[in-house]
Amino acid sequence: MRYFTAGESHGPRLTAIIEGVPAGLSLSAEDINIELKRRQGGYGRGGRMKIESDQVEITSGVRHGKTIGSPITLNVTNRDFKNWEQIMAAQDVEDKIKKQRRLTKPRPGHADLVGGMKYEFEDLRNVLERSSARETTMRVAVGAVAKKLLHELEIEVANHVVNFGRREISSPEHLSVQEIRETAGRSDLSIFDESQAEDLRTYIDQIKKAGDTIGGIIETRVEGVPAGLGSYVQYDRKLDAKIAGAVVSINAFKGVEFGLGFEAGKRPGSQVMDEIIWSENKGYTRSSNQLGGFEGGMTNGEQLIVRGVMKPIPTLYKPLMSIDTESHEPYKASVERSDPTALPAAGVVMENVVATVVAQEICDKFNSDTINELKKALVDYKKRLSEY
Ligand SMILES: Cc1cc2nc3c(=O)[nH]c(=O)nc-3n(C[C@H](O)[C@H](O)[C@H](O)COP(=O)(O)O)c2cc1C
Repeated sequence: MRYFTAGESHGPRLTAIIEGVPAGLSLSAEDINIELKRRQGGYGRGGRMKIESDQVEITSGVRHGKTIGSPITLNVTNRDFKNWEQIMAAQDVEDKIKKQRRLTKPRPGHADLVGGMKYEFEDLRNVLERSSARETTMRVAVGAVAKKLLHELEIEVANHVVNFGRREISSPEHLSVQEIRETAGRSDLSIFDESQAEDLRTYIDQIKKAGDTIGGIIETRVEGVPAGLGSYVQYDRKLDAKIAGAVVSINAFKGVEFGLGFEAGKRPGSQVMDEIIWSENKGYTRSSNQLGGFEGGMTNGEQLIVRGVMKPIPTLYKPLMSIDTESHEPYKASVERSDPTALPAAGVVMENVVATVVAQEICDKFNSDTINELKKALVDYKKRLSEY
């Protein structure tokens, strides 16, 4: 299962093509729209989120509510395009139109300057339009398909925010996907402990008032994953590495940890490894899950615990200094639009990106021409594991 995304932030539409989804999987536009809506919510978001109410149009690969094995094309219209038709036109336009919304003041922390240098652009809008986090809409759309597939296989994924800037959100060590959904899933801050919500809102409002932004840490958990996805035999088959790469590919994500994560570097080994136990009904399990469900680049059958750190949103209403690329004069960086934080939305992106990698791995490992074939292969595999 592989995919591509395309589309500019203010272009006519965003597109994703997914290939390799098993035939026979029930899939509707509504399945995807639910996830798109989640990405657009969350405390601290404004502006464009109110303009756009994303709706997907499926234009290939699905017939009468079921996938047919051919590439699935997903389209999301940018409703704002009507105000950008000439500026974003594919055909050549008059010079005076080219000057409208031209960007020559690169924003620190964005792709603007380096992208312009790399691709020889005079108008840095060519960079902004594609490097914008608007692209994550399609990662969520693809993830929605992946989650639908995983759900059929009784594999579930959820996320919650564990840090907003300096504010740590308390949550128990043992946390099921169901519990995350019932708590963080109902919170506009995407947090487990609702008693911290009021303080957090005040904190975010203060950051906004100061024209500043905050980042944080998001945790995604995956349940129902059998042992043995990924492999130790080659560097590029290690599933933890694939997940880490996918998470860092999300705009503004700068690091990933599994289980104890960086804390593992500070503890002696006796306080890090998970002891192996065996029982008649469960087979091999671990007495704890400090390694976050991975050993040797493979899932070990425990819950996957992945955390990603998101840097603060780089566009500040209290703009940072930059250099105008035409005049080389110092200038205050342009503000296209910005929010104090996008953590709850970024959590939805992360959850869907992790789901996509797990679904890809499953489709690679097992016969996956049809969903029935895949289900059967997984049942047989789990049976084999239980007899080991
Ligand atoms: C869900 C989400 C929403 C984002 N919203 C904004 C935003 O409103 N303004 C902004 O400047 N950056 C936003 N970003 C981050 C930028 O897209 C990102 O920092 C930038 O493209 C540079 O990429 P890098 O941080 O990965 O180096 C957002 C990121 C995510 C994941």
